[in-house]
Amino acid sequence: MLVSAKEMLTKAKEGHYAVGQFNINNLEWTKAVLLTAEEQKSPVILGVSEGAGKYMCGYKTVADMVKAMIEELKITVPVALHLDHGSYEGCYKCIEAGFSSIMFDGSHYPIAENVEKTRELVNVCAEKGLSLEAEVGSIGGEEDGVVGMGECADPNECKMIADLGVTMLAAGIGNIHGKYPENWPGLSFETLAAVSEKVGNMPLVLHGGTGIPEDMIKKAINLGVSKINVNTECQLSFAAATRAYIEAGKDQQGKGFDPRKLLAPGFEAIKATVKEKMELFGSVGKA
Ligand code: 13P
Repeated sequence: MLVSAKEMLTKAKEGHYAVGQFNINNLEWTKAVLLTAEEQKSPVILGVSEGAGKYMCGYKTVADMVKAMIEELKITVPVALHLDHGSYEGCYKCIEAGFSSIMFDGSHYPIAENVEKTRELVNVCAEKGLSLEAEVGSIGGEEDGVVGMGECADPNECKMIADLGVTMLAAGIGNIHGKYPENWPGLSFETLAAVSEKVGNMPLVLHGGTGIPEDMIKKAINLGVSKINVNTECQLSFAAATRAYIEAGKDQQGKGFDPRKLLAPGFEAIKATVKEKMELFGSVGKA
């Protein structure tokens, strides 16, 4: 069932768990995430970065593939198809293509411009029944060309954006896309608590879910995080499983080179990672 992320995140916030956003890259990724969500009876958000959208031949290809897959695989759990770190233009393209959820990342604009553009998109998304994520502060590191310095969000600016009526808010709290460096000081729970207090019931989003220790994930959920984004970790599991298959020479045995066989271990590895995260986030059985 393709739905906006609003209801699943409202329930997650009330129930003190988080819904995972898993970024997709191709057919195998999408199928692995959808099947795991169905098996775990968990709501799920499929994240599509602008780079991944381009790679998959455009947003319409992605939206049509996801809708068809939900139907053919008989997926009954709530699924949101979400633009990740969307530019202003990218948001409109995804709305047109049939996405059910949008992130407008206006964090690199001065706050007045972020507010102005977010306000416009709140109205457009409300009219069409889509959920909208906004961002304040920035997520460190690089993801598909989106680079952030990782500055912590200003709680007052978070309130300004939340009051516009967005569905969920990504606030920078020292989180980083990709692997965390050895000397990473950890999440700023001080910032998270201050943001949470300002924005009340607004579901908060934790980007950079890869490699955050379990106790920090649990603490973040307790402080109001209801959506956690995971991208790199599925890529690492897929790559490791594919490497093991090839290094064991399995692609040389029989028809081991058949893409349906060659990509199968990576596919299973994505499923295992998604399952592990759903268990950690507490979304299993919540569909
Ligand atoms: P990771 O790649 O660090 O898991 O971050 C994912 C993310 O935040 C997508 O926006």
